Amino acid sequence: MINDFLYDNPEFYELVFPPRGKSELCISIFEKYLVETPSSILDIGCGTGRDLADFSKRYPDCVGFDATQSMVAYAKRKNPKLNVFTGDMRTFRLSRTFDVICALGGCMNFALSNEDLDATFKTYQSHAHKGSLLLLQPLNPSDYFGEFKVPDKFFMPYKDSTAVGEMSYNLLKLQQVVERTRTWTVEGQNETFCDSMSYRIIFPAEISYFLNQNGFDVLDIFEADGSASYANKSMYVVARYKGC
Ligand SMILES: C[S@@+](CC[C@H](N)C(=O)[O-])C[C@H]1O[C@@H](n2cnc3c(N)ncnc32)[C@H](O)[C@@H]1O
Repeated sequence: MINDFLYDNPEFYELVFPPRGKSELCISIFEKYLVETPSSILDIGCGTGRDLADFSKRYPDCVGFDATQSMVAYAKRKNPKLNVFTGDMRTFRLSRTFDVICALGGCMNFALSNEDLDATFKTYQSHAHKGSLLLLQPLNPSDYFGEFKVPDKFFMPYKDSTAVGEMSYNLLKLQQVVERTRTWTVEGQNETFCDSMSYRIIFPAEISYFLNQNGFDVLDIFEADGSASYANKSMYVVARYKGC
């Protein structure tokens, strides 16, 4: 169950999480692993649609979907020409395939159980044809296991003041699920609000397993700085669909 102030108020999501060159990095990955320029891109869990908007400037046929209605509405408001839908990554079907399928910004971590993961990978497969490139950006598991390295505070400009979001985390180690609660306090004002969400921590070998089971070959797993140091917030997984 997602109850997230930033997802309900996407303009704040964009303030708290600036893009940091993510779409440019994705484009360089498409160019590295595809022989031909892709003509179609599907962004699963596209959020505010900002990566999709960047992809649309280069590639003719870009489509996205996201489970959070407010994110999709914001994406459409900001870029009325964007082809975005509301849909759940476990079940949504567009009845067509794409040259590139991506699931960025930890979207796949919302598949909490193995059954959810299985269904999500089936969605990737359902939208792939032979040679389709799949690009995933799961959270880095090393932030949660061993020394906890995730931030415990966020700051954002809010109603002429600053809202401070203080997080606490409960790691269910057996399930590999993190329960995150956050209390927002608006500085100088008597206003607080809470939100909460759960997400699954997924290790690279698990991802490789689900990819192989669903007809994908893993091409590479690395972090944004090109390393495999387990030092960054997320990882990039590149895979290619073998076809049936
Ligand atoms: C951290 S945001 C990332 C958004 C965007 N991909 C980006 O990188 O900025 C995660 C997104 O996953 C979406 N999401 C969560 N569960 C989902 C599901 N079951 N199906 C589709 N989208 C989902 C959320 O609504 C949210 O927009």
